Amino acid sequence: MPATPLEVENLSAGYGPTRVLEGITFTVPAGARLAVLGRNGMGKTTLLATLAGQTRRYDGRVRLGDTDVTGLSSAGRAHQGLGYVPQTRDIFPTLTVEENLFVGLKGRPKTALEEAYSMFPRLKERRRNLGTQLSGGEQQMLSTARTILGQPSVLLLDEPLEGLAPVICEELMAAFAELAKTGDMTILLVEQRIQSALDFADHVIVLERGRLAWSGTPQALAKDHDSVERLLGVGGLH
Ligand SMILES: Nc1ncnc2c1ncn2[C@@H]1O[C@H](COP(=O)(O)OP(=O)(O)OP(=O)(O)O)[C@@H](O)[C@H]1O
Ligand SMILES: [Mg+2]
Repeated sequence: MPATPLEVENLSAGYGPTRVLEGITFTVPAGARLAVLGRNGMGKTTLLATLAGQTRRYDGRVRLGDTDVTGLSSAGRAHQGLGYVPQTRDIFPTLTVEENLFVGLKGRPKTALEEAYSMFPRLKERRRNLGTQLSGGEQQMLSTARTILGQPSVLLLDEPLEGLAPVICEELMAAFAELAKTGDMTILLVEQRIQSALDFADHVIVLERGRLAWSGTPQALAKDHDSVERLLGVGGLH
């Protein structure tokens, strides 16, 4: 599937009676890279989970290209091309790396596994290891690779760098940059490592208490010291 634009309009959502997101509106053009920033608990995961159809929606619409997916289940959205790599790295611990990847193939030929291995050569070395025998970084690679094998047109990544050593972060970000270069996917990246996110993205939104508090280019955010300090709680970016 080619990349599709993502359009989010006046989205309000939460968990049961708890409203977390209020009136979120933004658009990501086809093939673009959006960084979603904000301090802990501001609603970043809830936003991605809502886009993936996993929370309770109170109001608003979500469109993938020409398709309104608002009324679809998470499986229906995945079928429409939405790929979600959750913050929890959902791999199957009792299956091997290769078996985990088979699950992501969704009917594609087994030869497609080589795509995942060329993106993450470490996974090929570990192909017979169980999910439980992987390091945090390898689990992240596996979780990401499994989703990408399904050829999503919009990819949602929730804090892929969390808890990983700097060298692994660089490896992952390089893989994401390669993926973005193909233009085949529209990518939304939630990250606490602000500089990595800004280096990757061409547009940024910042959430504060479930609302969209800032939107613009990475360059504009880096210059807006007041917003960076108030919304992200860091002294400065370069
Ligand atoms: N399953 C849930 N049920 C009820 N409230 C929840 C649930 N998950 C998250 N929340 C609440 O929703 C708000 C937003 O949480 P969310 O996980 O979206 O934040 P976040 O920006 O991803 O934070 P972090 O950077 O720590 O991952 C928080 O107040 C949180 O307590
Ligand atoms: Mg989160």
